[in-house]
Amino acid sequence: MTINLICPISLIYPPRIEFGSGTAQVTGQWIRAKGFTRILVVASAFHAARVNQLGFDRSVTVFAEVKPEPDVANLEALLGVAEAADAQVVVGFGGGSSMDLAKLAAVLSRSGQSIADIIGVEKVTGKRAALVQVPTTSGTGSEAGIRALVTHLQTRNKLAVQSTHMLADLAVIDPDLTLSVPPALTAATGVDALAHCVECFTNRKAHPTIDLYGLEGIRLVGRWLPRAIADGTNREARAGLSLAALYGGFCLGPVNTTAGHAIAYPLGTRHHVAHGAAVALIFPHALAFNTPAVPERTAAVLTALGLPTASEPQMVFDAVHRWCTGLGCKMWLSDFGIPEDDLPRMADEAHAIRRLLDNNPREVDRNDILAMYRAAL
Ligand SMILES: NC(=O)c1ccc[n+]([C@@H]2O[C@H](COP(=O)([O-])OP(=O)(O)OC[C@H]3O[C@@H](n4cnc5c(N)ncnc54)[C@H](O)[C@@H]3O)[C@@H](O)[C@H]2O)c1
Ligand SMILES: [Fe+2]
Repeated sequence: MTINLICPISLIYPPRIEFGSGTAQVTGQWIRAKGFTRILVVASAFHAARVNQLGFDRSVTVFAEVKPEPDVANLEALLGVAEAADAQVVVGFGGGSSMDLAKLAAVLSRSGQSIADIIGVEKVTGKRAALVQVPTTSGTGSEAGIRALVTHLQTRNKLAVQSTHMLADLAVIDPDLTLSVPPALTAATGVDALAHCVECFTNRKAHPTIDLYGLEGIRLVGRWLPRAIADGTNREARAGLSLAALYGGFCLGPVNTTAGHAIAYPLGTRHHVAHGAAVALIFPHALAFNTPAVPERTAAVLTALGLPTASEPQMVFDAVHRWCTGLGCKMWLSDFGIPEDDLPRMADEAHAIRRLLDNNPREVDRNDILAMYRAAL
């Protein structure tokens, strides 16, 4: 793969990013300085009970019902609360699910647009409230990005909205907020962050302005993820992963993911496997499949992860599969009760996600996807 230095790229990041232990309080300080008084926090029940960590000096409206992998019904419930609150600022406080819904609330509330109107690229007409993102997992990097994903009620497909109006005005990344993440979720979200970096680094649209974040993100995950799983109270390890997730977010905006994410999506949409867990299960399969198209870059990924270099797909697969298993990730479809007779439907759905498959460095057809699912059975 040749990387074209003169290929145009557009880089858009939040104008202000606060990073580090104890920064959560900056959320309230920033909102006070802006003079906002009507504040809406978007969170799951777990974080709704912790809004005092955000340094507010007044009462705030809290939508406490964000579900993992939120669907359109969950979004509609949020929009009802958001319109009643007439918020000047929306705060996403949680994992990718809460941050993605916060983005949508900031642009849809009182807009006259519905979710159906804004699916796709740059269909949003404007931002209706300021947006602050405070991640509590180190995985999605949604705090730095301009995309939101929500599940369609009938088809269960992930609907993707992309808009620069959904960019956070402030991202507050306090790694201490992730100290409570249990080991299995730490592993799954950590491999999600890793996959963002790897899929951008091995992408058809890979670009030198982004490669440095991808490679460094991979190094950070290789170094800190095993330590954070072994000892969840290791604050340095947590900070390393928060930085990796942010770098993954930097990668996602201009480059985005490839086949790995596309093939992982049906596990979530059809079988309710959490996003990170689905991505981790597929990760070694997609990396090994792509190896012949991007051998040097695959070798660089393994080196950055701290694994022996390999260029033969089966060796790549074995090394990365073993590494994921060692982290405690569930690496078989049967671990999630996914039956063999659903694999053809899953392959159809994954193969239809052209927005990601078109980024893949190697052509991937439906049978390739089916073969990966079969190998994971
Ligand atoms: N916008 C993007 O660019 C982007 C990128 C990747 C994924 N996503 C989306 O993000 C969602 C997944 O996000 P996620 O993996 O962060 O998980 P999540 O937000 O769905 O949270 C998973 C679970 O972890 C809990 N949790 C969160 N923080 C915790 C903490 N500090 N301690 C204990 N429990 C905690 C939540 O309450 C929830 O039950 C999916 O919908 C996915 O499609 C978006
Ligand atoms: Fe992801």
